[in-house]
Amino acid sequence: MKNIAAIVLAAGKGTRMKSNIPKVLHRVAGKPMLFYPLSLLSGLKPGKVVVVVGHGAQDVKAAFKSNKISYALQKEQLGTGHAVLIASKALAGFKGDVLILSGDVPLISKDTINAFLKMHRGNGRKKPVVSLITTILEDPRGYGRVVRDSSGAVTRIVEDKDCSVLQKRINEVNSGIYLIKSDFLKENIKKLGKENAQGEYYLPDLIQMATSQGHRVVGLTHMEPDEVMGINNRIELARANALMRRRISDAHMLGGITIIDPDTTYIDHGVTIGVDTTIYPGVHLRGDTGIGANCIIEEGVRIEASRIGDNSIVKSHTLIESTVAGNDVQIGPFARLRPGNDIKDKVRIGNFVEVKKTVIGKGSKANHLAYLGDSVIGDDVNIGAGTITCNYDGVNKYQTTIEDGAFIGSDSQLVAPVRVGKGAYVGSGSTVTKDVPPDALVITRARERVIEGWAKKKRSKKSQGH
Ligand code: UD1
Ligand code: CA
Repeated sequence: MKNIAAIVLAAGKGTRMKSNIPKVLHRVAGKPMLFYPLSLLSGLKPGKVVVVVGHGAQDVKAAFKSNKISYALQKEQLGTGHAVLIASKALAGFKGDVLILSGDVPLISKDTINAFLKMHRGNGRKKPVVSLITTILEDPRGYGRVVRDSSGAVTRIVEDKDCSVLQKRINEVNSGIYLIKSDFLKENIKKLGKENAQGEYYLPDLIQMATSQGHRVVGLTHMEPDEVMGINNRIELARANALMRRRISDAHMLGGITIIDPDTTYIDHGVTIGVDTTIYPGVHLRGDTGIGANCIIEEGVRIEASRIGDNSIVKSHTLIESTVAGNDVQIGPFARLRPGNDIKDKVRIGNFVEVKKTVIGKGSKANHLAYLGDSVIGDDVNIGAGTITCNYDGVNKYQTTIEDGAFIGSDSQLVAPVRVGKGAYVGSGSTVTKDVPPDALVITRARERVIEGWAKKKRSKKSQGH
């Protein structure tokens, strides 16, 4: 959008978070909270986006590398007004409206910003030099209060710490989201003082400046306070997470996904899910994850940075990380898929099976109690209970290859590097250290002996007192 530039304030220390991590990097539904205003802006396409960084500047910049963003460094955090002063230097040649967002207000929606822009620009009468979004809070503590005159026009904002007893009772608060005419901003931002309770340059003081110069200020009162909530401490962080999660779950449900209990389902921003999939309680779907259509994800499952194909079932209490799985697979209960697996269609991985950096071919099964690491397993292979690929000699890791149609008997160890040929059999209880040719049987157990009557004889000796 032309004639719009944006400033995002993200330099504050976030003292109330009591954290070593910059506030705007704390996560909401899997993303650093600054991600949300930035992605809203990327949809709006302003001429320029300036992010003011300070506390933890290097980390913040590293988290959001983009040629569409320029950063302004606020070395000392002297207040929101000072932050905008620094950012406005990057807008030297710009003429139009400057949209100011806070890095700690992640729930604000695109619809609200569009309505705000329309209001600011479409006012038939004298155009406002400043517009701001306000909201009504039952408990307005901590926020700047909106003071209006007898005609209802906004005259100024008073910060919580500067409020008189009467002002403290005002329920209308400043959301920290503004549209300001660039000419007015440039001329007045340097005039802000810091004679206030916090000794800071307050950006909202521009409002009083505007009204005292005879300009119009317009306040858009937003009726959903949740959307404009700022995150200042970990209680608010948890609340914002709950609200964002609910928003994400609602979108999935409206898109045709059954979520049994949205309150205990944790789906990160950006996760995709196909229609008619059912998600049970206590499921975490994290990071860049995609679940296919018509799947069942049972209770207590965590899937991170993975793909699961259509018609698949992930049973209770399974953990899957950085894995790609095909269609019609069944995984779990109690399975652990560590990073780097490529699981083809129709594979079954059962309880207490751990899989790492392993390819498992179509239709192969490892139904119980196994460790498969650094392996390449073909199609239609059967891995018996208790199979272990011994991939590590204490220094290096080696690969195990199991070709199509092979059968690995229970309680076998495959000592890598080793290859089991196509269609070969490994007898139960074998320790395989050499390659097995196709269609062969390998068996390494000691020969079985049966001694008739041995136990009976032993018992009778005992009873005779020997
Ligand atoms: C601010 C507003 C308050 C409003 C509230 C809404 C001021 C003085 N007060 O208060 O009226 O009700 O937001 O959430 O603006 N920041 C900087 N540099 C600084 C100081 C802050 O970049 O020197 C950034 C912070 O990182 C944050 C944003 O500005 O993203 C708001 O700062 P914060 O200290 O959280 O202001 P509030 O006390 O919440
Ligand atoms: Ca804040």
